[in-house]
Amino acid sequence: MPTGRFVEVVRFPVENVSPEAQVNVREVPAYLREALDGAGADLDDVDLMAAEIVTNAVRHTASGRPGGQVWAAVIATDEQVRVEVIDQSEARSEPWIPPYPVLSGRGLLIVQELAARWDWSRDRNGYTTVWFQVPRTGGAAGWPR
Ligand SMILES: Nc1ncnc2c1ncn2[C@@H]1O[C@H](COP(=O)(O)OP(=O)(O)OP(=O)(O)O)[C@@H](O)[C@H]1O
Ligand SMILES: [Mg+2]
Repeated sequence: MPTGRFVEVVRFPVENVSPEAQVNVREVPAYLREALDGAGADLDDVDLMAAEIVTNAVRHTASGRPGGQVWAAVIATDEQVRVEVIDQSEARSEPWIPPYPVLSGRGLLIVQELAARWDWSRDRNGYTTVWFQVPRTGGAAGWPR
C-alpha cells in the first residue's frame, strides 16, 4: 500500500446495547459513513462490509463479551480507502469462507465479492485485524476536510 495520507483509529468500547452483543454493531458503519463522507468511496458497500465484520467480532470473538471492544481504522490514499476492524479473537477461531453448499457463513463471502481486496491477520497478543479496501472513484477533491 502506498504511503497513507489519512489515518484515523477509533476505539469502540463496551456499551450496554443488548445482553449478548456488548458492542453496538451499527456504531462502526455509522462512524465510517461520517469519516468517509466525500471520499469518493461507495459508502453503501463500506457500510455493509463493516457491519458484517463487526457482527463477526461480536458473534465469534471476545469483543462481544462484557468488557469487549473493537477498534476501527481508516487508512486512505488518493486511490484507495482501507478499513480495518480489530477484534479480540481467540486463537481457536479464524476468519474463513465456508465452501458452498454450507448454508451459513455468507458474511465474509459478501466482503470478498464487494471489496477490491480483503484479508485478515492476527498479532501475537491475539488481536485480529480484518481489513478491506475499496477504490476512491472521484469527486473526492477536498477530502479529508
Ligand atoms: N473476527 C473473527 N475472528 C475469528 N473467527 C472469525 C472471525 N470472523 C469470522 N470468523 C469465522 O469465520 C466464519 C465465517 O464468517 P462469516 O461471516 O462468513 O459467516 P458467519 O458469521 O458464520 O455467518 P453469517 O452468514 O451470519 O455472517 C465464522 O463462522 C467464524 O467461524
Ligand atoms: Mg458473519
